[in-house]
Amino acid sequence: MENRWNDADAQAAVERYGRRGVPEELALRVYTSRLIGGDPALVLHGGGNTSVKGHAPDALGEEVPVLYVKGSGWDLASIEPEGFPAVRLEPIRALRHVRGMSDAGMVNALRTHLLDAAAPNPSVEALLHAFLPHRFVDHTHADAILALVDQPEPEARCREVFGERLAVLPFVFPGFPLAGIAMEAYERDPAVEGIVLVNHGLFTFGETARESYERMIRYVGLAEEALAEARRGDGRRLFHPRGGLPEPDEAELAQVAATLRGALATADEAAPGGWRRMLLHFRTAPAIRAFVDGEGLDDYARRGVATPDHIIRTKNLPLVLPPLSPGDTQGEGPARLGARVREAVGRYGQRYRDYFEAGCRHSGEDKVMLDPLPRIVLLPGAGFFAAGRTEKEARIAADIYEHTIGIITAAERYGRYTPLEPLELFGMEYWSLEQAKLGSSAEPPLARQVALVTGAASGIGAAIAQQLAQSGARVILADLELSAAQAQADKIGHDALATAADVSKPEEVEALVGFAVQETGALHMMVNNAGIGGAQAPTGDYPLDSWHQVIGVNLNGVFYGMRYAIPAIRDAGGGAVVNIASILGSVGFENACAYVSAKHAVVGLTKTAALEHAADKVRINSIGPGFIHTPLIDKHLDAATQEALAQMHALGRLGKPEEVADLTCYLLSDRASFVTGSYHLIDGGYTAR
Ligand code: NAI
Repeated sequence: MENRWNDADAQAAVERYGRRGVPEELALRVYTSRLIGGDPALVLHGGGNTSVKGHAPDALGEEVPVLYVKGSGWDLASIEPEGFPAVRLEPIRALRHVRGMSDAGMVNALRTHLLDAAAPNPSVEALLHAFLPHRFVDHTHADAILALVDQPEPEARCREVFGERLAVLPFVFPGFPLAGIAMEAYERDPAVEGIVLVNHGLFTFGETARESYERMIRYVGLAEEALAEARRGDGRRLFHPRGGLPEPDEAELAQVAATLRGALATADEAAPGGWRRMLLHFRTAPAIRAFVDGEGLDDYARRGVATPDHIIRTKNLPLVLPPLSPGDTQGEGPARLGARVREAVGRYGQRYRDYFEAGCRHSGEDKVMLDPLPRIVLLPGAGFFAAGRTEKEARIAADIYEHTIGIITAAERYGRYTPLEPLELFGMEYWSLEQAKLGSSAEPPLARQVALVTGAASGIGAAIAQQLAQSGARVILADLELSAAQAQADKIGHDALATAADVSKPEEVEALVGFAVQETGALHMMVNNAGIGGAQAPTGDYPLDSWHQVIGVNLNGVFYGMRYAIPAIRDAGGGAVVNIASILGSVGFENACAYVSAKHAVVGLTKTAALEHAADKVRINSIGPGFIHTPLIDKHLDAATQEALAQMHALGRLGKPEEVADLTCYLLSDRASFVTGSYHLIDGGYTAR
């Protein structure tokens, strides 16, 4: 474990924050919190918490003793001084002598003693930080500590590795109960430098930011060394690969992802399209393969999370899928695979319901069950999928589970991985203060949906991609011009993807849909937008090569787009397609026979496909824009012609790409649930004459 303390950086933080009036101890608190937050072997995604005790002026300008403690919603990796709300120390220390305290009572007591009424809620561990007398307190869920304490007889293991310098406490519920017993442990031996919490993590303390941080690094380092040296356990079943596992290729993985997405969709009247869906994120690496391919997977993967903090992200148990069988993705194979996956998800759900009922009985409380779907799905021979309401949630679950794999692997090598029993975890999964970390459940209209837009590097396609992302969809931008598509994806944000595809080539469109499904787990929306202008000449003189080229992109491209996207959308439980035609899909235009023919054909093709796939819950519509100011128009028409064209629209101007994007997003969204097979003009009155 690397000690990343650096005098110059610490000094720079003191000066930088000092210019904003931040006291030195808080600046250093921010500095070492970020060192901790920046190391995924210590904490992950908002995990862990830190504090410092100091003074701050109250409303009368009087300096009062305060605890600056991590506020909920902040991540240690990027925390700022504002992420440490100041709570009056004396009144909250007095809570030590209260007999018992509910969670709501604790949150209320902390909030009513904040100096700033608008500050975030102090961490759920705030009382523990307040009770201990040390100025700095650091808390992590370090991988090495978890591998060492998720063992039978964890106290004995800790004694061997840490001697008497750390107190060792059994698992106790975080919040008020833990704060009390942590303080008792300190009072029994005021010389301890930290507290190991079995099945949970490590606290260290110190008089300076550096001392507390360096103690953390030292003890985690000792745990790492002990794990590396000792070979108590042999981990035989983990490290012995099951023979003869089929290894799915990319296309087969895409098939599994689509099937899994379908199996994880839950019918819900209130959700867009009538389905509540999950996004998937696939992950593999040599260490992941060693884990999922191990002979004893069914045993060691089903023991549970490494620390209760992870349960809200990954659920306690992953779903273990059976390995693929030969022929699963050909002929009748996908149907068999689908049935197997659905059955496995169903069985998982039943076990979850049993656990939930047992948990309610055990705790004597009535709770409302969370969804019974897995967040982690292991596929022997391949890796694992993580599922979430958003791409971000799925990625967080994947990061956490990748560390869980590392912890289980180290723990099995060292001894036997022994996490908490499910019923002990139940309280944590259904603890309101933990659920609050997942944030509000209000979702944008296209959340959990994946959209593919062709010709998305420019003009109308780029505007559509942008707006779909703003509505919450995960967007894949496809274009001939990869670098321009990538630039648009970068503008949209980190979960938009760009890829190259020529829509006039069926094999490229097939690969494009495969890529979308593989990267995101499913496809729900397809926008066939890519198009070109072609030569300008009367029909009697029209160049044959331009005819074929325009038909190839503007008509064949739309057909291929539907030919390959519709099955994927159907697999995902339904969705919508929009084909960008033109006003020239309903009226003629001189010197553009190929373009006009292709666009008329797109309108008819759309109606036919809509009739055929209504029963599959795929709505299909076309749009007929008037002349829209995009690079296509600039490329073909000079300013005078554009002005003349503008006057042909009743509104006296060309349209804007965003206006077409608005209509497209409407047609793709559930607001248009009764709209299919129609051709929608958006033409500033061009065809009204
Ligand atoms: P644009 O030229 O700004 O963008 C078209 C995009 O499609 C470009 O990024 C281009 O690289 C891409 N593309 C071209 N051929 C491709 C292929 N074979 N495979 C993949 N990508 C390809 O054009 P604009 O104006 O945004 O047009 C988009 C769609 O809207 C087209 O279908 C067009 O016919 C239609 N339309 C445009 C109108 C206008 O006045 N701009 C009016 C009515 C319809």
